[in-house]
Amino acid sequence: MRSHYCGALSTINIDETVTLCGWVDRRRDHGGVIFLDLRDRQGIVQVVFDPDTEEHFKRADSVRSEFVLKVTGRVRARSDATVNAAMATGQIEVLGKELEILNAAATPPFQLDEYTNVGEDVRLQYRYMDLRRREMQERLILRSKITSAVRNFLDSEGFLDIETPILTRATPEGARDYLVPSRTHPGQFFALPQSPQLFKQLLMVAGFDRYYQIAKCFRDEDLRADRQPEFTQIDIETAFLDEQEIMAITERMICGLFKTVLDVDLPTFPHMTYAEAMERYGSDKPDLRIPLELVSVDDLMQQVDFKVFRGPADDPAGRVAALKVTGGASISRKDIDDYTKYVSIFGARGLAWIKVNDIAAGVEGLQSPILKFMPDEVVAQMMERLGAADGDIIFFGADRAQVVNEALGALRIKVAEDQGLVADGWAPLWVVDFPMFEEANGGWTPLHHPFTAPSCDAAELVASPGTALSRAYDMVLNGTELGGGSIRIHKRDMQEAVFGILNIDETEAKEKFGFLLNALQYGAPPHGGLAFGLDRLVMLMTGSSSIRDVIAFPKTQSAACVMTNAPGDVGAEQLKELNIRLRQTREEVEKGE
Ligand code: AMO
Ligand code: AMP
Repeated sequence: MRSHYCGALSTINIDETVTLCGWVDRRRDHGGVIFLDLRDRQGIVQVVFDPDTEEHFKRADSVRSEFVLKVTGRVRARSDATVNAAMATGQIEVLGKELEILNAAATPPFQLDEYTNVGEDVRLQYRYMDLRRREMQERLILRSKITSAVRNFLDSEGFLDIETPILTRATPEGARDYLVPSRTHPGQFFALPQSPQLFKQLLMVAGFDRYYQIAKCFRDEDLRADRQPEFTQIDIETAFLDEQEIMAITERMICGLFKTVLDVDLPTFPHMTYAEAMERYGSDKPDLRIPLELVSVDDLMQQVDFKVFRGPADDPAGRVAALKVTGGASISRKDIDDYTKYVSIFGARGLAWIKVNDIAAGVEGLQSPILKFMPDEVVAQMMERLGAADGDIIFFGADRAQVVNEALGALRIKVAEDQGLVADGWAPLWVVDFPMFEEANGGWTPLHHPFTAPSCDAAELVASPGTALSRAYDMVLNGTELGGGSIRIHKRDMQEAVFGILNIDETEAKEKFGFLLNALQYGAPPHGGLAFGLDRLVMLMTGSSSIRDVIAFPKTQSAACVMTNAPGDVGAEQLKELNIRLRQTREEVEKGE
């Protein structure tokens, strides 16, 4: 129907007759002349109808916002006085000759240019309208460019795009499974994949050597701005490449992607151990744009009587750390109280602080509720270690190391945002040498997944699961975990040892992962890979604050779709066919029966 996209017209097209199809963004009546801003996915152009074309003029007069039109007219230059520099097509306009109304539109539920006061639920309920907005169109167009660039890179490097099943068995990645009842196997359920992890490993056993897939993953977990129950991974697996080679090839992919799509040259990625990241940033996904660091002061606090600090300092599982904020002495008492509340979310029981007014004056030049608990000598050593200067504030955390890391790690980001200390640009890194396991409920859980290879042998692993490191690596960008992966276990005895440590007994291992254990016996090559969160990547590359803004039809925070009303009720007949009886109906649950 169309000859050009509205947004693609420019002075090159002057004097051409063009046919455009699109939506009415705005209609204005200027004393006998009708101006229509016509919009399509490329942008907006102004169309002018004057009364010379009477029939079409009348029709133009009758249209309203979001009507769908087909317009034919002649492109002409705007006069100097009417050039609109704010508009990509602002040098030109189209003198309308013919207008066909392809469809009328009811009054939109919200003005597309005044959506900011509209609740996200309303935006999601009318997502097809929300997606007509320029910024949403641009995000999805960029998303498409990103997947296309990723495919081009991986295709050119010899990776094969292979699909894996959606109806499958549980693939543990640490979340709950979404289950699908089987009609043909009464009482049994498929699980939707949390990732293609096991299948991609089996593809390596099968000899495909370099695999990728832009794969949907499903995880029933607590949602946040960077988590959806259904999300997309750029999933990669290779055989016969070690971790350095895998990191190098995927780093090249991401650098190439930023260059192609954003014309950005990323710096080379530093490699940082998990231990160092926790020590300096309290996080395994540090935002290196922020110049603040945590500094351990346990040794100094072992010399004080202040119990709050002395206890964790003496405890091997405890930590006392300081966070110096340059220029932060101007932070008000009220803000300190707010920060104290903020760190309590992470379990911190307080937030001690010292303001540095005049470092040359010694303890006299400091201001703090905790100085009275510390010998001057210790305070002096601490100031020296921290390199404290006039105008700084120093915050302290003292607790179990995990609480201190989480609390001060989060405070570091919050204070930096409030104080304008986050640098512009991109700060990528690799985090490596993760522990294999962490303690949970008196047992061990894997930090990544149970198929990750340790960097020691099976005997050492079994002897000391708590200190063993894994061959896993995460790519972090601006404080977001973009992707993670590992070298995998490719020998049955090692896999069995790991299951043993995880308290998965032989029967359970056979029942759940028998197919994997079997496959490892039939010539499994050394292999490894990783998966990027595509939604997070697009979120960062488009400067969005939530992955919901880069997914065409996302779920709400409560994991529902308000447009289609999913999940929905199922009729008695269908439940019977699936051999399912509800313990309570939705109504009963809602009534709290
Ligand atoms: P992992 O669980 O770390 O690893 O996931 C890989 C990447 O996927 C993204 N991601 C998510 N994005 C949006 N919503 C979610 N709920 C969500 N969960 C994860 C993150 C994360 O870095 N099979 C392994 C990969 C491997 O070992 O190869 C895996 O799934 O960006
Ligand atoms: P208190 O003696 O409880 O009044 O605490 C003195 C200061 O130490 C206050 O500023 C508290 O916020 C702070 N504080 C208390 N517990 C902790 C903790 N676990 N970590 C850091 N600071 C704390």
